[in-house]
Parts: sequence; C-alpha cells; structure tokens
Amino acid sequence: MSLAERILKLKKEKNAVILAHNYQRPEVQDIADYVGDSIELSRKAMDEKDAEIIVFSAVDFMAESAAVLNPEKKVLLPTLGARCPMAQMLTVEEIQHAKLRHKGIPTVLYVNTSAAAKAQCDVCCTSANAVEIVSSLEEDSVLFGPDRNLAEYVQRKTGKTVIPIPDWGFCPTHVLFQPEDITVLRGQHPKAAVMVHPECTFETQKVSDFVGSTSQMCRYAKENAADTFIVGTEEGILHRLKKENPSKRFLLAYEGAVCPNMKLNTLERVYSSLREEKNVVTVPRSVSERARKALDRMLNLA
Ligand code: 13P
Ligand code: SF4
Repeated sequence: MSLAERILKLKKEKNAVILAHNYQRPEVQDIADYVGDSIELSRKAMDEKDAEIIVFSAVDFMAESAAVLNPEKKVLLPTLGARCPMAQMLTVEEIQHAKLRHKGIPTVLYVNTSAAAKAQCDVCCTSANAVEIVSSLEEDSVLFGPDRNLAEYVQRKTGKTVIPIPDWGFCPTHVLFQPEDITVLRGQHPKAAVMVHPECTFETQKVSDFVGSTSQMCRYAKENAADTFIVGTEEGILHRLKKENPSKRFLLAYEGAVCPNMKLNTLERVYSSLREEKNVVTVPRSVSERARKALDRMLNLA
C-alpha cells in the first residue's frame, strides 16, 4: 500500500478530516478532503461536525484558529515547527501599546497572528475579506496588523485611515515579487492576466490585473477568459490552478516564491501525526474564549 493509501485508510479508521492550504505540497493537496484559503479552511473545520480529528496541513496560526473554533475536536498540525514568520511579527505588548496610543479605535487583526494576539482584537480578517470587514465598521480609523502591505491595500480600498501595527510587518515570501518580474513576463505574454496576493508590495499590486486571496485567485483563473496567467503568490498554488484549469497556462512571476514553513508538511509527517495523534494544537481557555469572539465576529460579518 502506498503512503497516500495508508493515510486515507487511517483517516477513515480514526474518523479524521484532512484540510490543506493552497500552498501545501502537491502530494499533500491530493490526499486532502479539502484544499482552500485561510477563511475557507476555518469554515470547513467548523462544518465537519462528525469528524473527531482535524489534520490541518498548513502553518501554526491556521491550526490554532481551527482549535479555537472547534474545542471539542483534536486538531493536529503535521509539523509543529511550521510557523508563519509574519504571525510572529506582532506581539501582545505591541497591540496593547498601540491601543493606548490610539484610544477608541477598533483593532482588526489579520488571521496570520497568534491566538494570544487575536484575543486582544475586536475582529479578525483574512486577505479574502479584509476590505469587507473594515468597511463594515462604523469608525473611520482602525488599527491593523501585522501585514503592512495588506493594511495599505485596505486603506486604498476603503478610504479609511488604517494604522499598521507594527509599521513594518511583512510576508518574507510575498515581498520577493518585484514589479519588474511582472513587467518582463507581460512583455513576453502580452495577453496574460496577472493576479497577485495583497501581501505583495503596492508597486507589484499596481502592475497587476487582480489582487486577491489564494482561493479568490483560483476563482479568477476559472472565470477569466485569458489562457495564460502570471501568478504572484506562493508556488504551491500552481498545482491547484493547473489541476482545475488543464487547458490554461500558469507562470509564477518569481520562481523563488516559496514559503519554507508551508513546505515542512510532507506526506510522511501527515501520516505520522495522524497515526500517533501527535502535534496536537491547543490554546489555553483564557485566550481561546477571547480569540473566538474575534473570529466569530469575522465569520458573521464576512
Ligand atoms: P490566504 O488566506 O489568501 O490563503 O493567505 C494565507 C497566507 O498565508 C498568505 O500568505
Ligand atoms: Fe506566512 Fe507568508 Fe508563509 Fe503565508 S506565505 S504562511 S504569510 S510566511
């Protein structure tokens, strides 16, 4: 029996569900019950009412959110060390200081944060709904962290004052895309459509046709008539894009755009975490109750 077959057998025996982010390795995406962006995976984790175990093949903050939203389930992260560096750029102390400096302003945090940070905010958002969430708030100013590029994107789209916390947060993978990567490829493929993630810099967003979350890019590629797409996000998404659109061509704008943490999850690690039910993600109750409020508010608003 192949490793993939053993995982599928074990998954049935243990009544588990496997969720994989769009950046996971192709072979991990292929054995998952569901592949999606961060908001879709959060919703999916809650929809899977009968599953006893959720194997969340992604990075720490996504599995943590699933644990907060599903306290009765065992949530496994195949590799405990798969951490999003951006999520570590915002500390609880920094949020508390920003709130003192800007009293009365709501705090909106990207889900790419620790559960302890989420517990400090009014509402969470993902790249798919950040504009919608900030627009839905009455106030004209918000504190927003940790991604400065997403904060600026939201400010441009909503016309509100979006104060970034910290003022330098970034995704080490997405800032690698340079506007020149896109202009050169556009020169070679003039009919191609360009889609990028809002974690890319404004300069890169400016030379693109579409800015959206990973799953919004998948929908854009399906619905857009172009037959070639230039892609500005982590390379793992190409597997899903090609699978769903076999007649279309996808060109990664920069070949080095790899999130090393997402890639730590291998089939072997998915198998061993499920077999031994190890790498259980837990969040202390005092934190999870407050983080849950911020996540629930997002899920209700978006
Ligand atoms: P999505 O919610 O768009 O999948 O993004 C998550 C992420 O980590 C992007 O780098
Ligand atoms: Fe974090 Fe960037 Fe990796 Fe997404 S791609 S998980 S934001 S480091």
